[in-house]
Amino acid sequence: MKIGIVGLGYVGLPLGVAFAEEGHEVVGVDVDQRKVTMLRGGESYIEDVASERLAAGGERLRFSQRYADLAACQAVVVAVPTPLTRNREPDLGPLVSAGTALASVLQQGQLVVLESTTYPGTTSERLAPLLEESGLAAGRDFNLAFSPERIDPGRTDYTLRNTPKVVGGLTPACCKRAIALYEHVCDEVVEVSSTEAAELTKLLENVFRSVNIALVNELAMLCDRMGIDVWEVVEAAATKPYGFMSFKPGPGMGGHCLPVDPFYLAWRAREFDTPTEFIELAGEVNQAMPYFCEEKIAHALNDHQKSVKGSRIAILGVSYKPGVGDMRESPSIKIMRLLAERGAELVYHDEHVPELPDFGLSSESLTAALEGADCAAILTAHPGLDIEALVAGAPLVVDFRGVTRGIEAPHLVRL
Ligand SMILES: NC(=O)c1ccc[n+]([C@@H]2O[C@H](COP(=O)([O-])OP(=O)(O)OC[C@H]3O[C@@H](n4cnc5c(N)ncnc54)[C@H](O)[C@@H]3O)[C@@H](O)[C@H]2O)c1
Repeated sequence: MKIGIVGLGYVGLPLGVAFAEEGHEVVGVDVDQRKVTMLRGGESYIEDVASERLAAGGERLRFSQRYADLAACQAVVVAVPTPLTRNREPDLGPLVSAGTALASVLQQGQLVVLESTTYPGTTSERLAPLLEESGLAAGRDFNLAFSPERIDPGRTDYTLRNTPKVVGGLTPACCKRAIALYEHVCDEVVEVSSTEAAELTKLLENVFRSVNIALVNELAMLCDRMGIDVWEVVEAAATKPYGFMSFKPGPGMGGHCLPVDPFYLAWRAREFDTPTEFIELAGEVNQAMPYFCEEKIAHALNDHQKSVKGSRIAILGVSYKPGVGDMRESPSIKIMRLLAERGAELVYHDEHVPELPDFGLSSESLTAALEGADCAAILTAHPGLDIEALVAGAPLVVDFRGVTRGIEAPHLVRL
């Protein structure tokens, strides 16, 4: 097949490469000239896609800024960003511009699949009319479907291949075609009855995580007051073989999905006069975590006769999760800002994030970061972080990830 991908980011690029690896001809389109140039030069900027895989794609994998190159494709998958506006409302700007541009080259008989996470109704009420500007009718002249992406950056046990893929079509025929497309790269495709059901499935998955993370974060704040070890409690509860799923507390929620997607559903729900209080509350609790963490660092310094102002604080791990350099919505940045506003002198160590231009900082080696530090705060524990060297090398350690469990030391403070 000839397959087009619109939006060559964390979702679109791995998908395009997977199709090429199955022998299909892939053309990836992105508006970002810098990305297209890098990809054409065989250089990947996504950690899950090694540059060698781009090279292996050879002639089958092409990159372009021109939508016209999609006209010859049988199927086009759209994976553009779906962020929030400053008022935390859905920003369909990139989707609308992609849909408008795609309409100008859309061909009879093509299949279009939207993968961008969005509220129920987007595919049928927003994307379909845009594509119909082409003069072709959705469901009759071209097929349209929604299939949410479940990619978890950095994860190797569950990949595109072995993670079931949910698909919902505008019509049964649309769904059938989309299923046939994904069967080339996924072992299991799960059919749902509509694009709306597929859209809501993705949001349920993310709201579920967001609510459970908020619950355990709220418990962590309570445990802090009560003097109970939250990690011990979560670990003990997780021994129940049924009816409990373990979520870990932490400095707040990051990444492109969890801090953003639930608000898409909350926004849509308002149109239906249905409050989504769990979603809003989870957002509030998770957004409060960085403030709590900053206070916890301030208290720990206070107990060591020090103030935040003038203290040198080594931040360990600035990306939002272990093993990747993804900085999107990372709570570390918020915590660093709060500490800087209080007058702390910051240094950081993160092998996945070489520079933090907004702070004018570069990542230091662990030893250099700890040198002269008054406090070290573990915000993200990347694999390979030498915890023992860290605890031995810093006069005060505040651990928000529970990785120092098993070590007892008077200068060690845990969430
Ligand atoms: N990253 C994840 O882990 C993840 C997981 C599941 C779902 N999603 C969803 O998938 C969608 C894409 O996410 P992502 O992480 O790949 O985003 P991304 O920002 O990494 O990539 C999106 C790409 O789309 C390009 N783009 C923007 N407007 C465009 C346009 N009009 N035409 C062509 N290209 C355009 C951007 O330049 C960028 O390269 C989002 O809706 C997101 O919520 C992401």
